[in-house]
Amino acid sequence: MTQPTVFTSNAVPPIHVIHENPDWLPPFAKAFAARGEGFVDWNLSDGAFDLSTPPPAGLFYNRMSASAHSRGHRYSPEYASAVIAWLTAHDRPVINGPGAIALEVNKAAQLARLERAGEPVPRTVAALGAEKVAEAAESFAPGPVIVKPNRGGKGLGIQLFENAHEAAARSRAGTLPGSTDGITLLQDYIRTTDGSVTRAEFIGGRLFYAVRIDTGGTFELCPADVCAPEEAAATGGPVFTVVENVVEPELEQAIGVFLRDAGIDIAGVEFARDADGRPYVYDVNTNTNYNPDAERAAGVSAPQALVDYLIRERNRHFASPRIAFNGWGLVPGRIAAAE
Ligand SMILES: Nc1ncnc2c1ncn2[C@@H]1O[C@H](COP(=O)(O)OP(=O)(O)O)[C@@H](O)[C@H]1O
Ligand SMILES: [Mg+2]
Repeated sequence: MTQPTVFTSNAVPPIHVIHENPDWLPPFAKAFAARGEGFVDWNLSDGAFDLSTPPPAGLFYNRMSASAHSRGHRYSPEYASAVIAWLTAHDRPVINGPGAIALEVNKAAQLARLERAGEPVPRTVAALGAEKVAEAAESFAPGPVIVKPNRGGKGLGIQLFENAHEAAARSRAGTLPGSTDGITLLQDYIRTTDGSVTRAEFIGGRLFYAVRIDTGGTFELCPADVCAPEEAAATGGPVFTVVENVVEPELEQAIGVFLRDAGIDIAGVEFARDADGRPYVYDVNTNTNYNPDAERAAGVSAPQALVDYLIRERNRHFASPRIAFNGWGLVPGRIAAAE
């Protein structure tokens, strides 16, 4: 059980980080330490909270991942939604709050909102049930179709069928990959000229940088070091490169408007260009990870920019230095040391 933490009279309350994968925290811990700050670690791979108690004070940053199920944490996103509802019911500021968790686990919701914001997205049908999936796939014939789970993450379970009839047959035979929430998306395949896609990293609603991902033909594009680097090295890809001037101002602005309307503060937004150079947005990652090699080569640090943004937001919300935060209750985590 965590000891209650007491903040003295001139302290500001802490920043709490909600997640389910400790492997992704070191770059952020380092960035906090660089500013002489710690953070409260809320690992929601399991947990319990008392609804009759107010949450602790502070700023909360949610980086729950749609791919939690691939690490044995099938229900952590649902649990995160419950925790975030409790936080917001008590007016706790949450960076990447309810809007972000709702879209993180629901690609159909992402695409619906992108579409409404006027973004070009690939034509997509969301389907439930093997026969409906098959019929939806047939609507793409004779062309190709991408089949992907509605709750995405790391490219798992994504398949390209050059002939959509084959996807339909596989659905009827019950041999398509499973979908965590039962919903399958059938999507137009954006055929790029060079196999690259772009991820535009937004922090605090603003474009921080864009990274080109040379996919090497794989759909599994996790940028973090911890995502099987040996495997990636063995297959020769993907390769991440920070690039400038690849997000046209209209696209940058439209993504910004989409993120604001959706209540998302931090996200990696992925798009692919067809042979005519037209961009199609197909994925929004609210728990985005950053590629350290690409950052080193470009001399930038998104984890630092993100942490600086969190500190600014925390200070903005808790401007008065004289509030006492004694005994602010249950902390379902631990205070990470500012090393
Ligand atoms: N409609 C599409 N056309 C072409 N490539 C796609 C399309 N959708 C996904 N991909 C490829 O598959 C990768 C993973 O798909 P994505 O929707 O981002 O799933 P995830 O949420 O699992 O990352 C993409 O980064 C891209 O390389
Ligand atoms: Mg993706």
